[in-house]
Amino acid sequence: MSKVLPRLHYLLRNRDSLMTRTCTGVRRYATDDSTSTSTKIPGGKEDGKKGKGGPVTWKTVGITALVGGSLAAFMLHLKNEKQQARDRERKRQLGKAAIGGAFELVDCEGRPRSSRDFLGQWLLIYFGFTHCPDICPDEIEKMVAVVETLDKLEDVPKVQPLFITVDPERDTPTIVGKYCAEFSPRIIGLTGSPEQVQRACKAYRVYSSAGPRDVEDDYIVDHTIITYLVNPDGEFVDYYGQTRTVEEVANSIQFNMVKYNEVHKKSWF
Ligand code: NI
Repeated sequence: MSKVLPRLHYLLRNRDSLMTRTCTGVRRYATDDSTSTSTKIPGGKEDGKKGKGGPVTWKTVGITALVGGSLAAFMLHLKNEKQQARDRERKRQLGKAAIGGAFELVDCEGRPRSSRDFLGQWLLIYFGFTHCPDICPDEIEKMVAVVETLDKLEDVPKVQPLFITVDPERDTPTIVGKYCAEFSPRIIGLTGSPEQVQRACKAYRVYSSAGPRDVEDDYIVDHTIITYLVNPDGEFVDYYGQTRTVEEVANSIQFNMVKYNEVHKKSWF
């Protein structure tokens, strides 16, 4: 904003010269078209017969000022948009820390579980809902396959998979527990109050929106399909979309583990 204000002052100071330039343009046009009276400039020789130029001119000037003002405002708006886009890009590059964070939820036994309980472990977190017809089951199966792939490697730390529901209304602790157990005993399923779930979703920038209910009161929840990788410090490290294969995700996790160890000068042994 601080840069915009001086610019606005500059535009205001130079408004008169801008207008003069525009008026000249209008005048040239007016002489070309003798039927137009509203755009004629007083004092011009072609205008002599009517003698009503004065007020018309001020109207013209007013309109020109309006158009010029709108144009200046529009240019300012464009400048702001450009600046905002640059800021967004910079935030995107720097902003890994903007994703993730603390959460307070409830596990399938109804016990409170917070993100602090998982410090010291690598996490894969998937947000979904147990009534999801196809995408969630596929993504959870993939998450389990990734974890099993890594489990087989002896020199790689265990990765804890978490499932967090975006549909706390239907997904009670018991339902989440049963659902997760169908995929793997390794998954910890989490739910909570709508507020708790909302806060966890917000932290991970997970969007979710319940669709209309059918006759059986069933509904689909539209939601972000992303699996998040969190390091032992509880920090978001990477994310994996639907198109990533088990092998790609497993490789990326190992790469991130090596990177983490280099930074923290740690060894698995
Ligand atoms: Ni789903």
